[in-house]
Amino acid sequence: MQRMIPVERLAREDRMVLMRARKAREIREEQNLDDRVLPFDEEALRARMHGIFCGEVQAMEAAGRTLFDFPDAPWEFQLDMARQVWDESRHTEIFEGLLAYMGAEPGDYVETEVLWRCTQAADPAARVAGINRGLEGLACDVFEQLIRIAQKNGDEVIERAVDYVLADEITHVRMGSNWLRKLTEGDPERLKRAQEFQESIDEVFSFRGTRRAIEDVRDGNENIITIAREARMLAGFSEEEIERLIAASRKSAAY
Ligand SMILES: [Fe+2]
Ligand SMILES: [Fe+2]
Repeated sequence: MQRMIPVERLAREDRMVLMRARKAREIREEQNLDDRVLPFDEEALRARMHGIFCGEVQAMEAAGRTLFDFPDAPWEFQLDMARQVWDESRHTEIFEGLLAYMGAEPGDYVETEVLWRCTQAADPAARVAGINRGLEGLACDVFEQLIRIAQKNGDEVIERAVDYVLADEITHVRMGSNWLRKLTEGDPERLKRAQEFQESIDEVFSFRGTRRAIEDVRDGNENIITIAREARMLAGFSEEEIERLIAASRKSAAY
């Protein structure tokens, strides 16, 4: 089987439409649909749930590919990846359930390839830095915000379901923090390359201008994803790394 498979090779049911994020944005613009990334109303929330459902599917595939792509990695590393596949498959089911709860189903919206694109690193240390710390760190930010919105809406189903998933995501980020440290022990060059890969992913999301430090969000603007400081600290992010994320988001806000 081929390693590092491109996004076109991901198997999908006929009802799913997978396309580039840029193309999906262009089509939305052509149709005069705005590009809100966080839910204010029910339709935006439904679309967001679908996006997260697709993210969970791709996270499950990504952990499976990390397991497959690096057969020489330590056995405990492979066990962690196998456990993560299991966690992500449960998350997929939870978000499919939340979609049904909101009157939608997989395939009602397009799926974009952006998460899978972030998996293309040939070193397992970079892979866990990018996926577990970069992308799943972002998932912590998104989920924490979603919980707050559900609380505001008085929706206990969404609040509890997402809180349950967030607990798993914190362990995935922590797994990434541990393996990044272990795999690069005594090899500062390798650590640096892995961190740079992670930062390139952090920037993709910060530079779209949709992520900020909570103290930088005025007027309770829910269209902005805030950085989940507490969840990230629990997951092994250092103060310095969080400050770097905040600085990157401030830089993007200036554009
Ligand atoms: Fe997940
Ligand atoms: Fe995860």
